[in-house]
Amino acid sequence: MNKLEHLLQPIRVRQLEIPNRVVMPPMGSNLGNTDGTVSEANLAYFKRRIQSGAGFIITEITSVHPNGIASPRTLCVYDDRFIPGLAKMADIVHRQGAKIAMQLHHVGREGYYLLKEGKALAPSAIASYIYRIKPQEMNIEDIKETITAFGQAARRAREAGFDAVELHAAHGYLLMQFLSHHCNQRTDQYGGNFAGRARFVVECLQEVRKQVGEDFPVSIRISAEEIIKDGYTVEDMQSIMPILVEAGADIIHASFGTHGSPGGITSAPVEYEPGFKVELARKVKEVVKVPVIAVGRFTDPFMADEIVTRGDADMIAFGRQHLADPDFLINARLGRVQETFPCLACNQGCIERLLFEQGSIRCAINPETGQELEYPVQAAKKSKKVWVIGGGPGGLTAASEAARLGHQVTLFEAGKEAGGQVLLAARVPYKKVYGRWIEVLNARAIKHGAEIITNQEVNEEMINKGQPDEVILASGAGPVWPDIPGVDLPHVCYAQELLNGAVAPRGAVVILGSGLVGMETADYLREKGIKNINIIETEARSPVSTLTSHGYMLHKRLRTAGVKFLFNSRVTEIGEESILLQREPDKQQELKPVHQVIVATGSTGRNRLEDFLKQGGIPYHLIGDARKPRRIIEAVEEGAQAAWQL
Ligand SMILES: Cc1cc2nc3c(=O)[nH]c(=O)nc-3n(C[C@H](O)[C@H](O)[C@H](O)COP(=O)(O)O)c2cc1C
Repeated sequence: MNKLEHLLQPIRVRQLEIPNRVVMPPMGSNLGNTDGTVSEANLAYFKRRIQSGAGFIITEITSVHPNGIASPRTLCVYDDRFIPGLAKMADIVHRQGAKIAMQLHHVGREGYYLLKEGKALAPSAIASYIYRIKPQEMNIEDIKETITAFGQAARRAREAGFDAVELHAAHGYLLMQFLSHHCNQRTDQYGGNFAGRARFVVECLQEVRKQVGEDFPVSIRISAEEIIKDGYTVEDMQSIMPILVEAGADIIHASFGTHGSPGGITSAPVEYEPGFKVELARKVKEVVKVPVIAVGRFTDPFMADEIVTRGDADMIAFGRQHLADPDFLINARLGRVQETFPCLACNQGCIERLLFEQGSIRCAINPETGQELEYPVQAAKKSKKVWVIGGGPGGLTAASEAARLGHQVTLFEAGKEAGGQVLLAARVPYKKVYGRWIEVLNARAIKHGAEIITNQEVNEEMINKGQPDEVILASGAGPVWPDIPGVDLPHVCYAQELLNGAVAPRGAVVILGSGLVGMETADYLREKGIKNINIIETEARSPVSTLTSHGYMLHKRLRTAGVKFLFNSRVTEIGEESILLQREPDKQQELKPVHQVIVATGSTGRNRLEDFLKQGGIPYHLIGDARKPRRIIEAVEEGAQAAWQL
């Protein structure tokens, strides 16, 4: 049996012995204090992550200069006053026996707050990919000052007890902006051909090396491929790799993509296979002898071990898997991988929450992540008899958490298995892993002591008889049946009936509603070979945003497959083989042939028992879709909160 022997081998970089080849890559948390210092929440979050046993931990972006700060809660290292807080981080990691690098960062033109104030700096005055606002072009003085700032930041990292530093030259931030001709159109010595554009990065590395001395390891994180139209290629990168090593880089961290890359590929959605960019690490290894880190959707240590064994990479970074379940490596080591929550790559709690909601880090399926200070560890003072009604992700999380805290928990699920809507989501293309998560969650709830009773609808009489101390009402949501003439014809069904196999797809299909259920049902049909699919939407656009990585992929897949979207359209009548549409106030259209009409017009919370509980004075918590249909992250969060408050 593979015992992870290569992945768990130590690796030496200069004087530093790293105990194994598992890396926690940098992940911005937005948990820092607003003055840039390390907060208690940062430390608690970090402490839990590193229990994974990863050998090499890299901090989130840490600003080397006030004019390079990404957001108000970004950690900073541009002054000596930041050293004490950062030292605490290093200390936590050392107590765990791991080694820690600080990621040195300058946001350049991708910092919203700086752009808004007209203070953002960049190689050229070309607007940010994300915010579409122009930065100021750096003059030579700015460039020299920034190079010095990288060096001083590295010196501070060393003084704070860090084992290494990593320069963030990836993902479209300042150092990469210099590398990219899309952002760097300078005509001086810092622009021009690829070698000219690399000069700034090289000088930063040289200055860092000068400040930290010869024995201190320096990593550089690159986007080995720009992944943008006419962007630089891995071959371009190969051409400068030896120069970067010569300038002081001891480790190459081979990431990919930039802010303008399609579909958030840097933190890739579920559509991408684990390890899908490992060839970039291999290509970097072709041209340099220093250790190379591979990254991208890794969740399975055994797969990582194979890659290290093959020699495609020397170390493997597990990013979001550290958020979904920091015990993944321990579980693999102890032969209990079936207990690990697999990362769903949904990005709901992590990167998309940071980018689009300005929130701090969470994980859609792991409610402890980012809330380590509030997360109850001790059993509750009083063990209560708790009934959880409904076994979707919210109910299962509530049952698991309540049982973990010592309550006597019974979960009732009306269907034949727990999992709710997620069981259907797991049937659409690429989302099988959602089903795996539900299996693990189910098993976890049972392991903690919850009893799960399926095929059991709960009624008032049962509650009267059972007398629970508290009820968690997690009865989910049911689909809405629209009021349209002809809707009761036999060829009309709910999307859910199609996904659960009760109804077979046939012929030319019309889907009513372009929300996630409608879109994913179209994707399911596309995969089944259905060619003629129309999606009708009353609004001007789909609520599934193309800014989210899964949303982007889904839209692209459906359009490529020829799925047609009819926006601003209302179905006024469903016929045997056609439908009538009201497109604009005075424009009617007939669509035919139509062999199947699939309803995906939203859902409504099932909270039938709420009044009864209220009137009976039975303490209850209404959570998840039963309260209001939303995403997995809300259901899980409310389930956990209800359990923690018992
Ligand atoms: C919430 C979040 C924050 C991130 N912040 C950083 C960062 O500060 N610096 C960085 O180089 N990469 C950052 N990344 C990218 C990750 O380091 C990693 O490259 C990416 O998530 C792909 O790895 P994974 O598929 O294992 O998650 C971040 C990713 C996430 C999900």
